[in-house]
Amino acid sequence: VATRGTPPAASASARASRGKWALPVALDSHRREPLFLQIARAIADDVRRGRLRPGARLPGSRSLAATLRVHRNTVLAAYGELAAEGWVETSRARGTFVSAGLPELERRRPSSTAPAARPTRAAYPLAPDRGFWSYERPAVRFVMPDGLPDLRVVPTATLARAYRRALRDPASQALAYGDPGGHPRLRAAIAEMLAATRGLAIGAEDVVVTRGSQMALELVGRSLLSPGDVVAVEDPGYRAAWQAFRAHRVRLVPLPVDAGGLDVDALAALARTTRVRAVYTTPHHQYPTTATLSAGRRLALLELAREKGIAVVEDDYTHEFHYDGRPVLPLASADRAGSVIYVGTLTKILAPGLRLGYLAAPPEVCARAVRERFSIDIQGDHVLEQAIAEMFEDGEVQRHARRARRLYESRRDFMVKRLRKVLGSAIAVEPPPGGIALWVTVAPDIDVPAWTARARELGVFVAAGRHFSFADRPLPNLRMGFASFDNHEITEATNLLAQALRDVRRS
Ligand SMILES: Cc1ncc(COP(=O)(O)O)c(C=O)c1O
Repeated sequence: VATRGTPPAASASARASRGKWALPVALDSHRREPLFLQIARAIADDVRRGRLRPGARLPGSRSLAATLRVHRNTVLAAYGELAAEGWVETSRARGTFVSAGLPELERRRPSSTAPAARPTRAAYPLAPDRGFWSYERPAVRFVMPDGLPDLRVVPTATLARAYRRALRDPASQALAYGDPGGHPRLRAAIAEMLAATRGLAIGAEDVVVTRGSQMALELVGRSLLSPGDVVAVEDPGYRAAWQAFRAHRVRLVPLPVDAGGLDVDALAALARTTRVRAVYTTPHHQYPTTATLSAGRRLALLELAREKGIAVVEDDYTHEFHYDGRPVLPLASADRAGSVIYVGTLTKILAPGLRLGYLAAPPEVCARAVRERFSIDIQGDHVLEQAIAEMFEDGEVQRHARRARRLYESRRDFMVKRLRKVLGSAIAVEPPPGGIALWVTVAPDIDVPAWTARARELGVFVAAGRHFSFADRPLPNLRMGFASFDNHEITEATNLLAQALRDVRRS
């Protein structure tokens, strides 16, 4: 409708023939917004500001078109738009008027003819802040703390082909509303994988696909927890999990961790005096210390959970990456009582950005989690879920995991060797039995915050132990991921760490 040929940024002041109203419009035919909408917005703004009162007459379309040097149809389209939005009423006989039903507004001076600035503050209060925390990822060359997979070796071409097929296969229904518990093929593929490799005697209906394990933790929170409930967590531990539970206004109680993993005696002592609703644990490769929960503690934990009715939230985030011997079977595989909610993720075997995880639990927990998931986002990305299901069915995910495991094992060994070589007695580090990060102990005479700060200046971000401590206590440790860097990069990063330490010692 907009008339071509209007000079760019033509400024016009349309004077209504009978009233005193002048329309300050800066029309710009080069703007993406069509001219008729620019005119409509300017008029609506004047109504909003109180410069045009309810009942006021607008100029006739011919006269406004002449003033603005646009085609009359453009003005008619603007008036049509305003009428559709309820700003004006048009009568063929009488003309166009600002709607009488609009509230009378104080006349305010326009600050300018530019579109109104976005409000910088909300006009209402927010709910109390629960102390949110999120990952810190500074823009430096080597970001090491999380233990990320190497995204360069992810089979993206295979994924792209599978995604295309999922998108284009009309039978897949992947673009429709579907099962909030996950695409049926992916639920089945994950159940099969859990049964085959982790000893979980489950079917597709016992699996809920989530957006990463973080959503699984959120669903656990929504399904199990009420304000004031006690949830036991590992200390040091995984802040993102604490955060998910805290959102449900529970009381978190930190439990110690040692070389045998979570101190289950401490949980038993707590459970003697307190009703513990749930315990969150990472038994396979404790986060962040990498310790594996000892066999005796596994049995004790399952027994305690059964006896006291404690839900065990088992986060097995790096199951596939176990280097020394076979992976330890999850607690869930030995759970006969229905105590364990097993949480897994594809973040480490594929990529964090895919946001795919899952939980496996008794049927009533799954049913509840599915309802909670529905209320958050209806369902996941079923195109992606079907593509990944196909990759599981074809053995592609498993092949990639095997390849990545070999690669990461060699990087683990290389990084440990390098750290020992360049840092000597400043640190002690053992190759972890699994996972994709190291837990390094720093000699007592070293100022850990100063070292990590200097390393960051040099381009290496490693997480100091304090980052994982429940009470923010300084711990003499560093966590460093090794999987996402090749040997050349590991050499560079460890050299920079050594350089940072020399700088700190000198100053
Ligand atoms: C303990 C633990 N659980 C789970 C995850 C994965 O989270 P998500 O699946 O939400 O990406 C991580 C990733 O760093 C982790 O460290």
